[in-house]
Amino acid sequence: MWHGFYKKELSIRRKLIKDYQKKDIPIPVVLPELNADQMIENYLFNYHLPLGVALHFEINDSPYVIPMAIEEPSVIAAASNGAKLLGNIESRIVNRHLIGQIIVMQVTLDRAKELLKLYRSQWLNYAREVSRDIVSYGGGPLDLYIKEDQGTDCVCFCLSFDPVDAMGANSINSCLETLAPQIVEACQGKLLTAILSNYSPDSYVDVSASIPINRLSKDSMKARNIAQAIVELSDYAQVDVYRAVTHNKGIMNGVDAVLMATGNDWRAVEAGVHAFASRSGCYRGLSQWVLKENQSELKGTMRIPLQVATVGGSLSSHPQAQWSLALLGHPRAKELAEIIAAVGLAQNFAALRALVTDGIQKGHMPLQARSLAMQAGAVGSEVGLLSQQLVQENNYQLSRAKELLDKIRYSSDNISED
Ligand code: MEV
Repeated sequence: MWHGFYKKELSIRRKLIKDYQKKDIPIPVVLPELNADQMIENYLFNYHLPLGVALHFEINDSPYVIPMAIEEPSVIAAASNGAKLLGNIESRIVNRHLIGQIIVMQVTLDRAKELLKLYRSQWLNYAREVSRDIVSYGGGPLDLYIKEDQGTDCVCFCLSFDPVDAMGANSINSCLETLAPQIVEACQGKLLTAILSNYSPDSYVDVSASIPINRLSKDSMKARNIAQAIVELSDYAQVDVYRAVTHNKGIMNGVDAVLMATGNDWRAVEAGVHAFASRSGCYRGLSQWVLKENQSELKGTMRIPLQVATVGGSLSSHPQAQWSLALLGHPRAKELAEIIAAVGLAQNFAALRALVTDGIQKGHMPLQARSLAMQAGAVGSEVGLLSQQLVQENNYQLSRAKELLDKIRYSSDNISED
């Protein structure tokens, strides 16, 4: 069904996606101004990003077509290639809770601990009572404890919270703000703040995929070298922060594009992910690739925190986010996190494979050529013509693109005058 999808005309691609969805779900090409105007203050107009689909994904033995909103030309192609080579990707979520902080000043740690012992269940019950809505969906406050590794004079009471399928920021923040005065009064202290944290290191997704190395090249020696080089490059990202950041940027290319398509808060995820990548005290690559089964298999594993939602917030009033979630089969938040982690791993695999073989530019530049053509001023059919010429010449300088565009225009003027 997907063979040569990228070469088909836009109308055919849209039809194929509708056929795949088996329901006549109209593609919402615009975010209505009325909705957008309700979403933010001082709204003026919509800022668009292209949304496309990554194909060939099999996650936990189920096929998926993945919506991705992104401006970088090679990301969707790379994700699809990565997924095709990897085959089934195993992805399992471990915990999904938020942590909220009530930070109190002018109280000693010992006194705060005594008070927590006395009032923990009373405070928790109160927190549950004020979070009735989310409790009725099976979530809400789970535990209240003190985080001791503060290195400050403040005491931090932490509330762990199950947001069910929502991002949960509003629910937990309201709960924290309502609970805080009771805690502060008992402490006879002063409130510094009550707010959720975007860091929840016990909530993450474990994702892995294995690929027989003979799938990396027909030539067995070459396949072995590619696999070995992928392992070395991923090891390098464990010890070198410069490489680790770029390694993780490649993962986030996939992660962020699905977060955007599904209307999720990508800033929250980004902040949490990079803190998580530094949890050992050094910033490291999130994924690692190793050789297994007598060196015949390349295995990638990744642990990544992904606080994502499938209901609530602005995603409920965003028709394009709703369309993306429908394309994914209306997943619960846990399943969406597993999907996104799998996309991140496939994206990482595709990047590492390209880096240790042809280099990134060979695959990247032909896709970049269309943007370059537009940057040079090409419009309509000129874009395809000019980008073809740039690819043929393997020259991606803007100055050359402008020269070629002049030539294209000059020859078409002459043809029309003839
Ligand atoms: C480019 O957007 C992402 C890469 O730099 C990732 C990587 O180097 O692993 C290709």
